[in-house]
Amino acid sequence: MTVVADAFAARHGGAPAGVWFAPGRVNLIGEHTDYNDGFVLPFALPHRAVVAAAPATGPVSRVRSAQEPAGAVEFTAASVAPGDVGGWAAYVAGTCWAFREAGYPVGEVVLELDSDVPVGAGLSSSAAVECAVGVALAGLAGVQVAPTELARIARRAENEFVGAPTGGMDQMAAVHGRAGQLVFLDTRDDTVERVPFDLAAHGLELLVIDTRAPHAHAGGEYGARRADCERAAAALGVPALRDAVPADLDRLPDDRVRRRARHVVTENARVLEVVRLLGAGADPRGIGPLLDASHTSMRDDFEITVPHVDVAVEAARAGGATGARMTGGGFGGCVIALCPEDAVGGVTAAVERAYAERGWAAPAVFPGTPSDGAGRLA
Ligand code: GLA
Repeated sequence: MTVVADAFAARHGGAPAGVWFAPGRVNLIGEHTDYNDGFVLPFALPHRAVVAAAPATGPVSRVRSAQEPAGAVEFTAASVAPGDVGGWAAYVAGTCWAFREAGYPVGEVVLELDSDVPVGAGLSSSAAVECAVGVALAGLAGVQVAPTELARIARRAENEFVGAPTGGMDQMAAVHGRAGQLVFLDTRDDTVERVPFDLAAHGLELLVIDTRAPHAHAGGEYGARRADCERAAAALGVPALRDAVPADLDRLPDDRVRRRARHVVTENARVLEVVRLLGAGADPRGIGPLLDASHTSMRDDFEITVPHVDVAVEAARAGGATGARMTGGGFGGCVIALCPEDAVGGVTAAVERAYAERGWAAPAVFPGTPSDGAGRLA
């Protein structure tokens, strides 16, 4: 996407100082475990946010996005604080703020942003922007920032500037992703291990099915799930649900809180099992039942799926998928389906047919290919 560099040159009459990127992500398994000190297993997508940037000549920063026709947003990077900038530009200004808060020098900047990460699809388009801006700021300042520190800065922008109470998975996937590999992250201490994920070698493909379901009230529901998990951990007397085991669940008297905790406890175990299977070089088809069980747990215990998502999962399985589950925060977004290569057409057709029968808009379907994390393009 050097088109963003061309847009920069056309608008500012000169080349940018550099072009940086960070990707969106798919989570293979480990949903709503990241704010419970648990395990996640995402990978970076080939879809990216790209930033062409240069130091500003005047006393304000100016950012423009190819996806936002309303035009440029201005702020002062040297003093911007939470509450000063809203809307899409908050991800950019928030990263400037968090970068400064981390003790790094931040001058005023001119940024041109472009992204092909679908927005509102649960593929972490916002983390992609934050991390792309973060690597750009580090590049402009000429400082080395380790990937995990960069991810923490980006997450701080999301939590404290944008105000979304998320965990840290998305930003860690955006910086640690690598082609052909999964990012196995222990969110208790941000330890990262890479797990090879060469589906083509086994005649498999991972389809990403963007249901395009509207995310109603997703923000409040995310916080409510988080609060239930904290209640469960407090009732069990453990620092986080990561520390709970299945036998503990009977000690939770409230049915809803017990089901929320059961999702987290069983989901953590499923992540570890998937890592064990893939790490041992087993046929990836073996993870299919774990993907299915994860979906059932999100649907029945964590209650974060919606009809568009459940229908896509059921249709994908009926069409020949080896396993399928919703990926991401929930209440809409994307489904992933592990498919034998010769079943890809059948799975896609089955999901499209199920949607057409219900009068729903057709989903977007594309292959999920593990790709590289944030870096410099030019
Ligand atoms: C969103 C959040 C992540 C994580 C997932 C659910 O993507 O940003 O931190 O909690 O939901 O696994």
